[in-house]
Amino acid sequence: MKQETGARVARHYAQDHLEETILDALAAAGKDTDRLTPNDLVAVEEFHTGGREATADFARQAGFVAGQHLLDIGCGIGGAARYFATARGCRVTGIDLTEDYVRTAQALSRRVGLGGMTTFRCASAASLPFADATFDGAYMIHVGMNVEDKRALFVGVRRVLEPGGTFALFDIMRTGDGELSYPVPWAGNPETSFLASPAEYRQDLEAAGFEIVSQRDRSGFAGRFFAEAKARAAAEGGPPPLGTHILMKDNVAQKLSNVVTGLESGMIAPVELVARMRY
Ligand SMILES: C[S@@+](CC[C@H](N)C(=O)[O-])C[C@H]1O[C@@H](n2cnc3c(N)ncnc32)[C@H](O)[C@@H]1O
Repeated sequence: MKQETGARVARHYAQDHLEETILDALAAAGKDTDRLTPNDLVAVEEFHTGGREATADFARQAGFVAGQHLLDIGCGIGGAARYFATARGCRVTGIDLTEDYVRTAQALSRRVGLGGMTTFRCASAASLPFADATFDGAYMIHVGMNVEDKRALFVGVRRVLEPGGTFALFDIMRTGDGELSYPVPWAGNPETSFLASPAEYRQDLEAAGFEIVSQRDRSGFAGRFFAEAKARAAAEGGPPPLGTHILMKDNVAQKLSNVVTGLESGMIAPVELVARMRY
């Protein structure tokens, strides 16, 4: 990945004082911030279509099991990593380009007692700072949209996996023609948005040494998810104190509306792919 692109992506997500902002929102939502539990964080920590429900569905598809050591590529503030740790008994190492996210992921895990099961470090998916065959499995949720050279990323993931390891991903993919309007939650403009079709993902995965195990389009689920969130916000006169709008920072309504328009027109779709390393 070009260094310049990485810096632009990180700037899009960067947010000063993120831990404090989240703690304030937790307090406003009535949580005891001195005694936080993993469940308290659910509404804010899953920065992707479908939130926690989507992560739980994705985990079932991926099939990771207790005791495995997983790599979370583009871990954000660590929501999925904490889910895989608590619900699946996996040890998770998360990496992310955005320093503010990595710092916040670490701090939140410590606060909910998951500092031993999850670790986070600042790194680029384009150059994974791990020895060969370090992980039993790897996953990536809503990150590929920011990665231009997905094949190179997949080659790197294969290198750090144990032989036969599973790599599962859940990304917004290009499924039809048309011009997507910006901003969207993952990019302020097309310079850092690199949508690819499911066929292109499969091709890149296969070229990197994976075989495809399953593919699932989550458009129907996503449509319901966004409609419900919109209805809730309308009924309550705005978003709740605690939500992923905190991570989206500005132009939140516009970002979501552009995604929903893209989904409804069939231009984009959230798609899961599960792949296994070929021997
Ligand atoms: C939409 S967020 C998703 C975060 C998290 N996976 C989740 O679902 O909550 C995309 C994340 O990918 C990270 N990211 C994008 N490109 C990356 C790259 N090349 N290497 C590492 N992280 C990257 C961003 O910093 C951001 O945290």
